[in-house]
Amino acid sequence: MEFSRRDFLMRVGQAGGYSAAFVAMQGLGLMPARAEGLVTHESLGAAPGSGAGVKVVILGGGIAGLVAAYEMRQLGYTVTVLEARERPGGRNWTVRGGDKIKFVDGTTQTCSFDEGNYQNVGPARLPSIHPNILAYCKKLGVQLEVEVNTTRSSFLQNDNANGGKPVVQRQAINDTRGHVSELLSKAMSGGSLDSEMSKDDKDRMLAFLRLYGPLDQAGKYNGSDRSGYLETAGAGDQTGVLSKPIDMHTLLDESFWQGMLFEEQFDMQATMFQPLGGMDRIPYAFAKSLGDIVQYSSPVSEIRKTAKGVKIGYMQGGSAKQIEADYCICAMPLTILKKTPNDFSAPYKKVIEESVYANAYKVAWESRRFWEQDYNIYGGLEFVNVGCSPIWFPSAKIFSERGVVVSGYTDETSSPFGKLTIPEKFEESRKSIERLHPGHGKELEKPIYVGWQRIPYNEGSWIRSYGPPAGDGPGRGARAGGPSDPTAPRPVSPGYETLIQPDGPIFFAGCHVSHIVAWQEGATLSSLRAVKLISERVKAAKLATTASSIVSA
Ligand code: ALA
Repeated sequence: MEFSRRDFLMRVGQAGGYSAAFVAMQGLGLMPARAEGLVTHESLGAAPGSGAGVKVVILGGGIAGLVAAYEMRQLGYTVTVLEARERPGGRNWTVRGGDKIKFVDGTTQTCSFDEGNYQNVGPARLPSIHPNILAYCKKLGVQLEVEVNTTRSSFLQNDNANGGKPVVQRQAINDTRGHVSELLSKAMSGGSLDSEMSKDDKDRMLAFLRLYGPLDQAGKYNGSDRSGYLETAGAGDQTGVLSKPIDMHTLLDESFWQGMLFEEQFDMQATMFQPLGGMDRIPYAFAKSLGDIVQYSSPVSEIRKTAKGVKIGYMQGGSAKQIEADYCICAMPLTILKKTPNDFSAPYKKVIEESVYANAYKVAWESRRFWEQDYNIYGGLEFVNVGCSPIWFPSAKIFSERGVVVSGYTDETSSPFGKLTIPEKFEESRKSIERLHPGHGKELEKPIYVGWQRIPYNEGSWIRSYGPPAGDGPGRGARAGGPSDPTAPRPVSPGYETLIQPDGPIFFAGCHVSHIVAWQEGATLSSLRAVKLISERVKAAKLATTASSIVSA
């Protein structure tokens, strides 16, 4: 008798109830495993204690380095992390009042935000579809709150559309949908798609479009309350006056689409999270657990291969030091590796040399929460084509008096913004807020600017290309500003293929060694993979030693 998966699950459900069926479905790969159960000894291909007697040095105490150290220590390896800065986290950096932002050229800003306010100048959101980094938050007790990544109450603006007047997102999104539905409905009713669809499907589609648009019985879009009101409804005879639909020509502007589609990107979809109090709660939680495994203020000065493994030179307390190990996990940015004397083999030197990094920046201001108090905007992003874009409202401490708002977060490599002085950048940034929220530009205070290409030990935000032609390989889709083309193929460049293989005893890690560039999930997964590869190598070496001792006995 054939026994289907469905039968099996039904019987499990009958015998053990819903939770038993759920676990069985996970086992059969029909449901995603729960976040906290993702990393296990089995998934790392290693038995507890299997790393005993094996030394590993990890270069870089960003998320990749910290995850690797955490897991390798659990497996019994002797681990050291060399971190150039006096803090853990790398790009995971939260700036608060009193913190200094130092650039490679010595330029220094001191943040003067009020107590309790902060800006995550690197990663600032955790998608719910990034289960591995979320699992570490849970495991390490990092409390999360919702990060409001999108709100329909915020604005889109383009100087070339709608007379430059901002449009509220709920209206832009829903009026576009209404117009597209009306057109499709017309085309179908007129018979244009008869060769594509059966009569039955056509009727179903027309019914769907009436709901989806929404359209009236004649198939016309006349606006809807999804797009909002000129006068909201209230008590008594206050029925409300609907907004007049924006015409389709206006909505066809590319800059409107970009903003409208932002929330559709896989990594940007609700629900998103952020740690309570700042993104750096994650690296500090790792650091607390790892203790003196992480050596701070220890920049790497040289990476050498030896007969037994690696020898790493580094500076500490003004003296040159060295550490030897069997294996190395190299989680330093390629921008810095370029300048670090090393023994990498030729293909690795080539990809490191040819790699190009994006230069994302953020400008953040402290202000009265005019967006909440005067506009009913709570979190979310706005897109604008003057000054800087996007504007990103804080999700932390909603309803408090003052907050930190970002105005400007993109790659400044080839934009005129990149050439401005810091005070000029601030004025550009203020302009965007003023454009969308007239009169409020002057409420912005205490600005900070972080341009990642100018930050020591990073000199770039995330990888953009693993070699010519620029834009090749994973990373093409690193999405800071607007959506990338979700249907475009993502060719994997030879440079990336090189980097995911170990160079002798050296294993590369970091988001650039993943297909999830510019996300902490990518960094995490790259490290879990490196731990697995090392564990396999260690296991194979032990088996070989055992075999040779049996042969010689
Ligand atoms: N992960 C980056 C962001 O959230 C690209 O904007």
